Amino acid sequence: METIVKGMEGVQQAADIIKRGGLVAFPTETVYGLGGNALDPEASRKIYEAKGRPSDNPLIVHVSCIEEVEPLVSAFPEDAKKLMDSFWPGPLTIIMPKADIVPMETTGGLNTVAIRCPENKLTLSFIKAAGLPIAGPSANTSGKPSPTEAEHVLHDLNGHIDMILDDGPVGIGVESTIVDLTGEVPTLLRPGAITVEDLSEVLGKTVEIDPAIVAGGVKEGIHPKAPGMKYRHYAPNAKMVLVTTGLLKEKDYEVSEEERNLADRQVSDCINELVKKDVEAGLKVGVICCEETLAYYEKVSGDKADIKVLGHRSEPLSMTHELFRVLREFDDDKAERIYAESYSDRGVGFALMNRMRKAAGMTEILAEEK
Ligand code: TXA
Ligand code: MG
Repeated sequence: METIVKGMEGVQQAADIIKRGGLVAFPTETVYGLGGNALDPEASRKIYEAKGRPSDNPLIVHVSCIEEVEPLVSAFPEDAKKLMDSFWPGPLTIIMPKADIVPMETTGGLNTVAIRCPENKLTLSFIKAAGLPIAGPSANTSGKPSPTEAEHVLHDLNGHIDMILDDGPVGIGVESTIVDLTGEVPTLLRPGAITVEDLSEVLGKTVEIDPAIVAGGVKEGIHPKAPGMKYRHYAPNAKMVLVTTGLLKEKDYEVSEEERNLADRQVSDCINELVKKDVEAGLKVGVICCEETLAYYEKVSGDKADIKVLGHRSEPLSMTHELFRVLREFDDDKAERIYAESYSDRGVGFALMNRMRKAAGMTEILAEEK
């Protein structure tokens, strides 16, 4: 039986477990990670086993400062230094050519390594105390929504790990941005709270977007460069469907107030009707909406469906913060269908919608065509 240990008192204990070859779940600003010694192939094997994760899916290596990167890489691109100076500690993972001391077990057989310095005081102290880089995927069962609270970790990994270092709910709620610096041009492999615009601004050049992000995984010859992005991911047990309108998509969600009101009504009418049908068929149904549209659902589907608000659509970070918790709650409540509104892909919205599309298995319908 592992222990959840809160606060600084857990730091040394966690470091000792890592040094002995054990596994510790740790808090970060994005999601909780499942940590082991990144230089120990056996620890990496244990991580894959605990998560039930395919071992071709590489792990992110966590460090406590920029100086700890040097021994892990065989080349240190100037762009990497710029990004680290600007964004570390913070939600940015950088792919670089790996040094020999990083075992293939940690990188899923790749010659590159993903490195990140998370912004969490406990975890930075824990990494320093361990004196080792920490391999850490998200601390969830493979395929499930990433854990944003220590309780989520316990739910998924109880009995498979030695300890959970608890620092309460995380701030951001979706995983770090991943940028690959091993090719000709910097390429975004996974969107997160640091946007592609943020990266371009610091680097003073265009950052490409891996086509697999937009396609949502492996499709017609598109193979994601981040192996993890090809798997079904972040998925609740319920079948989830996103709902939007043709006009919103066409105008990239930049619409007038009048158009916005019309779209809100179209989307909510569509969802309320789908809820009604499902409830009549005896299904347990959930709705995901935002503060701005809640009233449209409360009036119609209020007592039939479980309506959950993500946050304010004008502030995507308020929504990323809640998404995985909400998906897990629907699982706990045994929801069988989830209908969710689609939101803008702008800024941090790109990360939010990336996770929502994956949760929905890329199923998105137009309200007017239903
Ligand atoms: O916010 C985060 O990044 C969290 C916290 C715990 O740090 N970690 C996380 O790890 O999300 P994980 O393992 O769930 O996702 C890592 C992603 C996977 O999609 C994996 O394929 C990709 O990073 N990745 C890791 N190493 C890579 C490499 N060398 N080349 C390309 N993609 C890589
Ligand atoms: Mg993960």
